[in-house]
Amino acid sequence: MTGAVDATAELVERAAAHLMPTYGVPRAAFLRGQGTVLFDAEDQPWLDFLSGLAVTSLGHAHPAVTEAVARQAATLVHTSNLFLTEPAVLLAERLAEVTGWPDAKVFLAQCGATANEAAIKLARRHGKAQHPDKVRVVALEGSFHGRTLATLEATGQPAKHGPFAPLAGFVDHVPHDDPEALTAAVTDLTCAVLVEVVQGEGGVRPVPAEVLAAARAACDLHGALLLVDEVQTGMGRTGPWFAFQGTDVVPDVVTVAKALANGLPIGACIARGAAAEVFKPGDHATTFGGNPVTCAAAIAVIDTIRDEGLLDQAATRSRRLVAGLEGLAGSAPLAAGVRGRGLLLGLELDAPVAAEVEVACRDRHLVVNAVAPDVLRLAPPLTVTREEIDTAVAVIAEALAAVATHPTDR
Ligand SMILES: Cc1ncc(COP(=O)(O)O)c(C=O)c1O
Repeated sequence: MTGAVDATAELVERAAAHLMPTYGVPRAAFLRGQGTVLFDAEDQPWLDFLSGLAVTSLGHAHPAVTEAVARQAATLVHTSNLFLTEPAVLLAERLAEVTGWPDAKVFLAQCGATANEAAIKLARRHGKAQHPDKVRVVALEGSFHGRTLATLEATGQPAKHGPFAPLAGFVDHVPHDDPEALTAAVTDLTCAVLVEVVQGEGGVRPVPAEVLAAARAACDLHGALLLVDEVQTGMGRTGPWFAFQGTDVVPDVVTVAKALANGLPIGACIARGAAAEVFKPGDHATTFGGNPVTCAAAIAVIDTIRDEGLLDQAATRSRRLVAGLEGLAGSAPLAAGVRGRGLLLGLELDAPVAAEVEVACRDRHLVVNAVAPDVLRLAPPLTVTREEIDTAVAVIAEALAAVATHPTDR
């Protein structure tokens, strides 16, 4: 065994003693990161084409984020929400700018699930003002919205519900690609329709424009709010700041988390129009919401993306990566096609071997993941270089060939 494997094995053993095993057996352990590269215990580089599950969009250890965090940590870390701190206000102002909603109001949470939890509570409060039973939510099959009880219930993956049933029963799920089914599911007792524009955990599956349009129309007809979960797709991951900005549909509420602070835990629920006026003092709260350090990191992320033109750069890089992956689909075994938007991409395989391809990539120090049995997810940082893209495509080609040739021992 190499030293890195020894060090990882030792850490895995210690973790097994005292960490709850909710994440399965870890795939590797890393000591540090720089840009698109992670370094293991032997200081060996790995190419990170997953960005910590679409989180470190500026790459690891981005100097602007490091500097903002260090400065804020040395200044003021926490006051509670009994008091104001400027980073929370500044971040809310920035989020109003990037949504393009001058009337936006923001609730700052800690992660994606808590941002969605806020959105669902907001929609219920809005619905109940119209009718005491207007609390139902329509969501899509295959969606992922989080693991708290309400967001788990909204998540359209019944296997994840099983161990925790019975759930409250307030969510109706419809197929992700059936506008008529969605229209039929929304009633006067629906307070919200909750959708992703591209289902990330659901297999990098774009939701058809007709479904988004049907959701908007049904919400308008029944006085419900359209909630768009941009936890995975926000902050330039699919091209624009938010994926909805690449569609004809404008939601009432958008949630964002993951990449917002490049790895520090944060989430935001952003509302406009009447939805922005729903919450009153005492309606919702969380001790760490608006934490100055995480907010400072998020402001640095937004400013860096804007000042360095990273949305445009990421679009160019996306085209190169898509071309590389499409090339594989024409030439390499198992590769069948490419889906997704921007730098949230899925390589479709013609057999359910994505987990094996993931391992074969990992053996070659490339981090990607099997997001469905036949889909490999790629989500490199927006800062990824051309050379890194070409290397990753070459590694995937090798991994596909290895899996195709030796399905069991790679
Ligand atoms: C679309 C979407 N919503 C919500 C979540 C939950 O976010 P968190 O894990 O930060 O609670 C995720 C996480 O993968 C996600 O992809």
